[in-house]
Amino acid sequence: MPKVTTRELFAKALNNGYAVGAFNVNNMEIIQGIVEAAEEEKAPIILQISKGAREYARHEFLMKLIEAALEISDIPIAIHLDHGDSFELCKACIDGGFTSVMIDGSHLPFAENVAIVKKVVDYAHPRGIPVEAELGRLAGIEEHVSVSDRDAVYTNPDEAKEFVEKTGCDSLAVAIGTSHGAYKFKSTPQLDFDRLKTIEEALPGFPLVLHGASSVLKDYVDLCNKYGGKLPGAQGVPEDMIKRAVRGAVCKVNIDTDLRLAMTAIIRKELAENPSNFDPRKYLDPARTALKEMVRHKLHVLNAAGKA
Ligand code: G3H
Ligand code: 13P
Ligand code: ZN
Repeated sequence: MPKVTTRELFAKALNNGYAVGAFNVNNMEIIQGIVEAAEEEKAPIILQISKGAREYARHEFLMKLIEAALEISDIPIAIHLDHGDSFELCKACIDGGFTSVMIDGSHLPFAENVAIVKKVVDYAHPRGIPVEAELGRLAGIEEHVSVSDRDAVYTNPDEAKEFVEKTGCDSLAVAIGTSHGAYKFKSTPQLDFDRLKTIEEALPGFPLVLHGASSVLKDYVDLCNKYGGKLPGAQGVPEDMIKRAVRGAVCKVNIDTDLRLAMTAIIRKELAENPSNFDPRKYLDPARTALKEMVRHKLHVLNAAGKA
């Protein structure tokens, strides 16, 4: 199957009540685990590469590994830059074969965010590449935080409309209470679904993206901790909230932490239980299997299974 753009994937997802899983990749085992899961579940997927992943594994290695996956599989796969932080990085990824890029100017003032996104859009669109942007700051906010503090951090629906019109971006990552990593909420998890609905109404039919959407599944946190890990009180976004978000305009859901936890939990277990083993394949193989099972599970949560 040739690689596809996220534009094609979102058009189908938006009309069919599911979201495409965007899974972060850093090495061969991660790519293999994700692609095998997607093949078995017949689901379209986005393989996304962060700046850090690109520095860790190198652009050329990641692209060749993904090319191999494309060669042997028949599911639609998009190759996306996650959290691009400069025009130059986005340009290098577009020139180097990515089919989608994110330029993340969410830390910038509104006008500067608009300017950098517009610059990337002007380069990407003539080359057929869609652009994801972000407005608002990803942060878990506790229940007691005031409405005005919440407004200062989360995506403003009116600004979102203006931002999309001014930049011409193809999808928008919104801040409604999710955050990156394994510690998303100090107390009861909550997302601002009213705000999400207002953003959807301000931008009818426009693809929205949820970052920081891992659920930090307790079984894997417990397994990590049992075998020497130290992740006390880790907590993610409950899966029923993810299911609710993808029934609307959220058509890309970013997942990295859950994959990291699954791999690390199993590697910890394998090393602890087999102290005399020093063959990396003996712990990377079960780690890849655990990651694959995690992705299969996620594809069902996103309602993406069977949609390839
Ligand atoms: O949102 C960030 C992703 O989890 C990628 O993380 O920058 O450590 O590769 P990274
Ligand atoms: P998690 O840390 O919740 O997996 O989020 C990943 C992400 O948003 C990558 O861009
Ligand atoms: Zn992210």
